[in-house]
Amino acid sequence: MKEFKGRTAFITGGASGIGLGMARALGRAGMNVVIADIDQNAAKAAAERLASEQIKASAVFVDVTERASVRSAALDAVAAFGKIHVVCNNAGVAVGGPLGTIKERDWDWIIDANLKGVVYGTEVFAPLIRSHGEGGHFVNTASMAGMVSPPGMEPYCATKFAVVAMSEGWAAQMAPLDIGVSVLCPGFVRTRIHESGRARQDRYGGSGVVDPGVGATPSEAAQNVLSGIDPDIVGQRVFEGIRDNDLYIFTHPHFKEFTQTRFNAILAAFDKSAKSEALKQVKDWGPMVPRTTPD
Ligand SMILES: NC(=O)c1ccc[n+]([C@@H]2O[C@H](COP(=O)([O-])OP(=O)(O)OC[C@H]3O[C@@H](n4cnc5c(N)ncnc54)[C@H](O)[C@@H]3O)[C@@H](O)[C@H]2O)c1
Repeated sequence: MKEFKGRTAFITGGASGIGLGMARALGRAGMNVVIADIDQNAAKAAAERLASEQIKASAVFVDVTERASVRSAALDAVAAFGKIHVVCNNAGVAVGGPLGTIKERDWDWIIDANLKGVVYGTEVFAPLIRSHGEGGHFVNTASMAGMVSPPGMEPYCATKFAVVAMSEGWAAQMAPLDIGVSVLCPGFVRTRIHESGRARQDRYGGSGVVDPGVGATPSEAAQNVLSGIDPDIVGQRVFEGIRDNDLYIFTHPHFKEFTQTRFNAILAAFDKSAKSEALKQVKDWGPMVPRTTPD
């Protein structure tokens, strides 16, 4: 997307942290911004703060774990600003801990918020963007935890790997429609992600303290997050990624080596399979590649 002025961005989890950073960066580029969040007070406060910075902003309630809520927030956003061009599927929560300690309802919560929330945001908005014909862009917030999986972060990493996978597929599907897709993969950013339990809905156990899995103790987790980079800089980095239609947006270049180590291990395992006695029996390998474009 090259034209930002007067266009509109819808940002889930926009009331805090990275979402607010994206709202500020896109607002400064001349976009109207819709702050969509489960925390209505924080969303209103964020929109007012942005308005005081001469950014056109409005706040809407959304709970991304419910498709109907995403649909209703989308209609509110269209009522406020007309066409939506950029959708940041950014709302997310963190859950982790040692094997066997994670409650079933917390698995449901993180999958519904981090994975299905991105599905709902994409499925609800893609037809709306398509219908106005002016093109658009999705930014799906994954994480470095969508590239590598440190022990104790399995629920979080499972959802973030999924966000990377879905974004790769959707990017190929939506490119012919002039709709870009980026997947944002930050390392630690100074936000409130370690306090995700504050927004946990009653059906998943209610508001409370949840181990985010990003440190051995709660204070180490807080320390890790609070030592992260400035969310406003992440927002500016996201603007660059949308402008350049980048599929992957990284914010911590020096984390490349973690991804490299994982990829090296995967490639080495392929090399090992090439020497397998068992596989020598295969006569026909089937199709070479899966289909890459929709029918
Ligand atoms: N902070 C980091 O170090 C970091 C690193 C990589 C990725 N991320 C990702 O960035 C995204 C934003 O998180 P953040 O770090 O800014 O944390 P944050 O807690 O500061 O902000 C998250 C926002 O999402 C909202 N939210 C939570 N559940 C919601 C729901 N069901 N519906 C709508 N809104 C909901 C919260 O109210 C909050 O305003 C998340 O997807 C997170 O996984 C964060």
